Amino acid sequence: MAQLNPVDPFDLVIFGGAGDLALRKLLPALWHRHCDGQLPPLSRIIGVGRSPLNREEYLELVAESIEASFFGEDEQTYWPSFAERVDYVEVDAMDADTWDPLCACLEGRESVLRAIYLATAPSLYGPVARGFHQRNLMVQNMRIVLEKPVGRDFASARDINDEVGAYFAESQIFRIDHYLGKETVQNLLALRFGNAIFEPLWRREVIDHVQITVAEELGVGDRVGFYDDIGALRDMVQNHLLQLVCLVAMEPPASLDDDAVRDEKIKVLRALKPLTGEALKSASVRAQYLSGAVKGQLASSYEEELGSPSQTETFVALKLEIDNWRWSGVPFYLRTGKRLPEKYSEIVIQFKPVPHTIFDARVSATLPNRLAITLQPDEGVNLTMMAKEPGPGEFSLRPVSLDLSFEETFGIRYPDAYERLVIEVLRGNQALFMRRDEIEAAWRWSDGILEGWAQSKQALETYVAGSWGPSAASMMLDRSGRAWN
Ligand code: BG6
Repeated sequence: MAQLNPVDPFDLVIFGGAGDLALRKLLPALWHRHCDGQLPPLSRIIGVGRSPLNREEYLELVAESIEASFFGEDEQTYWPSFAERVDYVEVDAMDADTWDPLCACLEGRESVLRAIYLATAPSLYGPVARGFHQRNLMVQNMRIVLEKPVGRDFASARDINDEVGAYFAESQIFRIDHYLGKETVQNLLALRFGNAIFEPLWRREVIDHVQITVAEELGVGDRVGFYDDIGALRDMVQNHLLQLVCLVAMEPPASLDDDAVRDEKIKVLRALKPLTGEALKSASVRAQYLSGAVKGQLASSYEEELGSPSQTETFVALKLEIDNWRWSGVPFYLRTGKRLPEKYSEIVIQFKPVPHTIFDARVSATLPNRLAITLQPDEGVNLTMMAKEPGPGEFSLRPVSLDLSFEETFGIRYPDAYERLVIEVLRGNQALFMRRDEIEAAWRWSDGILEGWAQSKQALETYVAGSWGPSAASMMLDRSGRAWN
């Protein structure tokens, strides 16, 4: 296990403290960090919300939420000391008359780090930032965390950034994309920049194309009301998938410092070729799931879940291009969808075939090498190579895999992304968070696709729940003689 970084005493004020994200992700993440002894004494976690709960009732919710993530009897002995840190105050962020309990709770704590975590709708980001300013709740060591989505397009993202930026410096704003906290996503940096062998191969001369798949077996479920206004492009591509593209495609940063990595990522986002007009039609597929079966369980259609007809996409496949020297002409194929056969995310680097084969093509084909990085589950790296079939017979080849499973190699529980991200906020390390220019560049590019779809009235394809998406997504690769991994 890597050595833990120390954290200074803090007050973490979680707006939306009794909401789904806080209870499902943040509190369990803080709990694990507490059990590992990483949270310093006298640090507090203050849930803030409109629900009329007293501290005991809130603690019951917290206990329930982390029960699922207890991973041994021993940890339960940490509960009393964890509970001591947790408090709850009832505040309606939009109603100035309700802020007094929060002011009272924070009084006398001006010398410790104060971090506001906004696990709420983005419409509250500006008002909460302003509320802290108007109520003189800003302390010297102050940070604010914005959950995704920051806006629903470029204009709304810019407005939110302006509103929050009126009270907080960019160095105090932490915009979350939880994919950046995933261990294997960070392992991409280790793989690319901790090993000299990949860099000479990481370019257009050697790589045929790149595939990024983020598949989910779950449907939209309870979030359907919210999701119907969003769709898969805004929910997954604008943020998680584009961040993965950036980490695969960026130039080597000079260090892991906050801006060194982000300076390289923004260059990739700016080099994304706009997808518009006719090009968009052949380079994008949008689709929605019909009823079907996932892992043997019957699954309703999206429209059944919603209760009305809808044109919102739950699946997107895209072919994007990066206009720079390293990647010119190398397609990046992205696909993401709900109600696919399994939860599975991977990045595939497909290398070009050998320029000339010396082997008898009638006996064996020489398949191009492929590097697959599995993000979840079963995090690992797999390199497919050709080897000779053993035996004295004909000289024939067979593809074999060099497999690295991180869990087997390191033998530890993989921490949830939020464990790292919450700690990085407290440590003030912004490298794993999105800078304003990144978010806005990603929206500009995504807006082009959304506008193109709307203008051309691009058809919404359908796919059966439990399948790998519509046939149009396969045809998109098929046209250039390629196939999804
Ligand atoms: C969220 C999306 O950002 O990421 C969800 O809003 C999606 O729709 C989730 O299910 C996927 O995250 P993970 O970590 O489960 O791959």
